[in-house]
Amino acid sequence: MRVVASLLITAGAFLGSCLAAPTSSDPLTWEAAYQKANDLVGQMSLEQKVNITTGTKWRRTKCVGNTYAITEPDFPSLCLQDGPLGIRFADNITAGVAGITAASSWDKQAIRDRGRYMGQEFKGKGIHVQLGPSVDLLRAPDAGRIWEGFGEDPYLQGIAGTETVLGIQGAGVVATAKHYIFNNQETNRKASTSTVDERTFHEIYLWPYARMVEAGVGAVMCSYNEIDSIWACENEYTMNTVLKGELDFKGYVMSDWGATHSTVPAVNAGLDMTMPGDIIMGDNYTYFGQNLTDAVQNGDVTEERVTDMATRIVAAYYKMHQDKDYPETTVNMVNRTEAPEVLVQADHHKLVRSMGAAATVLLKNDGVLPLKTDSIDTLALIGSDASDDPNGPNSCVSRGCSNGTIAMAWGSGTADFPYLITPHQGIQSRVGDDVEIITNFWDWDAEAAAETARQANVALVFSNADSGEEHIIVDGNVGDRNNISLWHNGDALIEAAAEANENVIVIIHSVGPVLMPWVDNPHVRAVVWSGVPGQESGNSLADVLFGDYNPSGRLPYTIARNEEDYNVRVINATTLEYTEKLEVGYRHFDANDIEPLFEFGFGLSYTKFDYSKVKLHTKGHGDKVRVTASVEVTNTGDVDGAEIPQAYISFPESAGEPPKQLRGFEKIHLKAGNKSKVTFEFGKTELSIWDVDSHEWVIPSGEFAVHVGASSRDIRDSVSFTL
Ligand SMILES: *[C@@H]1O[C@H](CO)[C@@H](O)[C@H](O)[C@H]1NC(C)=O
Ligand SMILES: *[C@@H]1O[C@H](CO)[C@@H](O)[C@H](O)[C@H]1NC(C)=O
Ligand SMILES: *[C@@H]1O[C@H](CO)[C@@H](O)[C@H](O)[C@H]1NC(C)=O
Ligand SMILES: *[C@@H]1O[C@H](CO)[C@@H](O)[C@H](O)[C@H]1NC(C)=O
Ligand SMILES: *[C@@H]1O[C@H](CO)[C@@H](O)[C@H](O)[C@H]1NC(C)=O
Ligand SMILES: *[C@@H]1O[C@H](CO)[C@@H](O)[C@H](O)[C@H]1NC(C)=O
Ligand SMILES: *[C@@H]1O[C@H](CO)[C@@H](O)[C@H](O)[C@H]1NC(C)=O
Ligand SMILES: *[C@@H]1O[C@H](CO)[C@@H](O)[C@H](O)[C@H]1NC(C)=O
Ligand SMILES: *[C@@H]1O[C@H](CO)[C@@H](O)[C@H](O)[C@H]1NC(C)=O
Repeated sequence: MRVVASLLITAGAFLGSCLAAPTSSDPLTWEAAYQKANDLVGQMSLEQKVNITTGTKWRRTKCVGNTYAITEPDFPSLCLQDGPLGIRFADNITAGVAGITAASSWDKQAIRDRGRYMGQEFKGKGIHVQLGPSVDLLRAPDAGRIWEGFGEDPYLQGIAGTETVLGIQGAGVVATAKHYIFNNQETNRKASTSTVDERTFHEIYLWPYARMVEAGVGAVMCSYNEIDSIWACENEYTMNTVLKGELDFKGYVMSDWGATHSTVPAVNAGLDMTMPGDIIMGDNYTYFGQNLTDAVQNGDVTEERVTDMATRIVAAYYKMHQDKDYPETTVNMVNRTEAPEVLVQADHHKLVRSMGAAATVLLKNDGVLPLKTDSIDTLALIGSDASDDPNGPNSCVSRGCSNGTIAMAWGSGTADFPYLITPHQGIQSRVGDDVEIITNFWDWDAEAAAETARQANVALVFSNADSGEEHIIVDGNVGDRNNISLWHNGDALIEAAAEANENVIVIIHSVGPVLMPWVDNPHVRAVVWSGVPGQESGNSLADVLFGDYNPSGRLPYTIARNEEDYNVRVINATTLEYTEKLEVGYRHFDANDIEPLFEFGFGLSYTKFDYSKVKLHTKGHGDKVRVTASVEVTNTGDVDGAEIPQAYISFPESAGEPPKQLRGFEKIHLKAGNKSKVTFEFGKTELSIWDVDSHEWVIPSGEFAVHVGASSRDIRDSVSFTL
């Protein structure tokens, strides 16, 4: 009970600062959920408790993860289903923007709404646990699963992760933060050990988990890799000491699929559920089940520990009100045609479309955009990424190919598109009969592409870069990308089109950074970064190209000018040492004075914003200090738009931090000519560093600075303060 009481304070403080008064559909507090769970688990036998921690029937029943159901007392078989962007292996669902693209909207409300609609869809199909969000940090630009998470900055990951969790769980579904931890590349993910110093662990990789735990996340998934030569799913330090100790996580830890490697060490280190249950997927043996019951009877695991495991699982279930009228599970991954037709899409396509537009990052524009249909007779669309290829993404299982337009990458983090609006379709439906569209979707003949470009007023050249999970190999890429160049002959197509036409606009669908050797070519008049936007791809793009939506997306990662400017790349090794420490992403570029091509936080608009001087106020002291920085932003252009003011903090030099770190941002909508005040607040969380001597967060003493601007390199004003 002592533990529960301390938790109440955390939850109370959190609710008080962030949310309105709870309504009956809001998740229960952990304390209330634990009361109910203690009651139920108190009636269970050892074998029953063990059974609800054990996955079963992998690929022989409805969901990707299923626990045993028990009777007297009754507890249902929990259905756990992929993935971070929507329901995998199901029909009549929404396949919206991927995590990385949600992040590039920098729009907290939209990210919350995205979480909520996903939660509603998972609940509608009777799924108890959504296997997302992913907060694997973008450490290496070529890592395969960076598109599932929220980019290179822990603060942005923390905000996006938290908003997603609050959305999903507010709809009644348990969210799963994953993959805990240091699963930052696909190569050797099941055969490598990561070595990360304690400070980097806390400040960079743990940060998003800490924020999601504060927000009440119900589940955390431990990863495939080892940490200091101990499997993530049997690591006492990361699970018991840090997650359940320091962070006071009250939910349960489940294994990644097949990432459990023992009974006693795993359970005693903090693993609460094994998924999908089997030792080797499909073998019908398990480290839990009878093995766990035996371990209790042998005295290697205490029954209290098994009670704790079961209680955590049952508490998360009660927390989301899943005991009340929860829909029957109607997904069926064994035989989709046997799944009843349950419609859950509602009007979620609207958010997908607007978020796709809001997440589009305009990287270059000399004024050619937005396009005006009345000044164009002929528009050329070049590159298979614009095409309506019938053998496109949905023709390949788990999107494991690179055909047609990329609106999602590959692996378990995918869903099947219910439909996919291609760029060609989106643009065609926007321009109607006003503009003639000519196309060349064959990527491997640059001469022919140039010929098509020559016949048009404006040539839109499409290219992409894809990646995914290591169990699928696409064009020789084993999950991670073999290079950070465009696929499908993209560079050659762009160069050829720019030789033939002075008005080239490049559109890129990419999982992460790519090299752009042609970017300074004056005939390349605009570059539009569309990310991985989901089912409304072409509509979102047309909204931006024709000015129906004024772009406000910002890069959630750094795009380097030269490949060697990145300090970390995927390596084929069995020991991964995080020697760059805190210098991840823009922290590295700033610390080493390297000019990026497009910096973290960058993105253009069709209007202009001016920033006033920053006003700073400090009140309280010690751990209670609150620093507020406010700035007035004015839309000085002549069209309405949204700006994303960003606040970065510099720590005292003695703290040994990188030059600056994101600690606040807001998206504000401003009519032409109008202005608005934005206030950023920094407290203990934002102003602390991890002190390795005391093993605590401490606010260092000395001179800090706050920098407010439109990107990490476009700082409009800085003010220093001393603590
Ligand atoms: C637990 O699961 C095992 C394996 O399927 C089953 O044989 C047993 O009946 C279950 N026990 C209880 C109490 O649910
Ligand atoms: C539900 O999905 C199935 C399979 O894709 C499709 O045939 C059916 O038309 C969908 N139902 C509705 C109402 O959209
Ligand atoms: C696992 O059990 C299922 C169902 O009884 C059976 O079909 C399957 O062949 C078993 N797998 C192995 C590897 O024995
Ligand atoms: C128990 O675990 C061992 C490995 O430690 C495994 O060989 C055995 O098959 C498991 N037993 C059951 C019933 O799954
Ligand atoms: C799936 O279910 C349908 C309808 O019950 C059935 O006709 C079909 O044979 C099943 N397919 C498989 C692979 O079991
Ligand atoms: C899909 O793409 C793969 C390579 O990614 C290629 O081998 C295959 O032929 C393509 N399929 C179709 C039907 O075009
Ligand atoms: C990069 O990888 C893609 C996809 O495999 C390939 O098409 C392309 O040729 C590669 N580019 C370079 C410069 O190696
Ligand atoms: C990594 O190296 C091993 C051993 O040389 C090789 O077998 C494997 O294919 C490599 N993996 C990748 C993804 O390149
Ligand atoms: C500008 O802002 C003011 C005050 O916030 C508001 O009253 C006014 O309607 C706004 N003007 C426009 C054009 O939106």
